[in-house]
Amino acid sequence: MSFLTTIKSRFSPYSFDGKNVPFSDIESAFEAARWANSGYNNQPWRFIFASRDQANFENLLGFAVEANKKWMKDCGAIVAIFATTPSDANPKSNESAMYCTGIAAGQMQIELTALGFQSHQIGGFDAEGLTAFLNSPDTLTPMAMMAIGTSSEAPKKDRERKPLSEIVRQ
Ligand SMILES: Cc1cc2nc3c(=O)[nH]c(=O)nc-3n(C[C@H](O)[C@H](O)[C@H](O)COP(=O)(O)O)c2cc1C
Repeated sequence: MSFLTTIKSRFSPYSFDGKNVPFSDIESAFEAARWANSGYNNQPWRFIFASRDQANFENLLGFAVEANKKWMKDCGAIVAIFATTPSDANPKSNESAMYCTGIAAGQMQIELTALGFQSHQIGGFDAEGLTAFLNSPDTLTPMAMMAIGTSSEAPKKDRERKPLSEIVRQ
């Protein structure tokens, strides 16, 4: 059982077709995130979801930097991704919670791809503004936002990755 084909068909589109993506259509992607592994099984990931037909969609979109807003506005749903830091199990280790939240987000994206959706994460957003808007505590660290939707865009031909020889030493 290999997921490589699914993993390689995920890419970050810069155009979405404006179709709404309700929670029920992608619930299994949150389930994929829920089943991620984490230090002490602490499960530090938290999500705020808004489909484009919900009022919070415009609110979340409002925190993306202008360059991201331009293409993100047409996505079907937005997820804001947070890590609960410091973790309850290990108050000294913020890194572990952030690392594990990344695992959850990655699993989520693989499931979204398998469902026929595309997703595009952004770090270009106003994290402080989002925290203030949500009135969330300091222990909830905004990590990324994810645009989800359907897109007719083809992946760029020049997508590149470093060769295994550069990233793995045997
Ligand atoms: C944590 C994170 C932050 C990112 N921030 C942005 C962003 O602010 N704007 C953007 O256009 N793309 C952003 N990206 C998308 C990356 O540029 C993209 O994933 C990378 O170039 C690889 O391309 P691919 O996803 O199509 O394989 C981000 C991706 C991740 C994982």
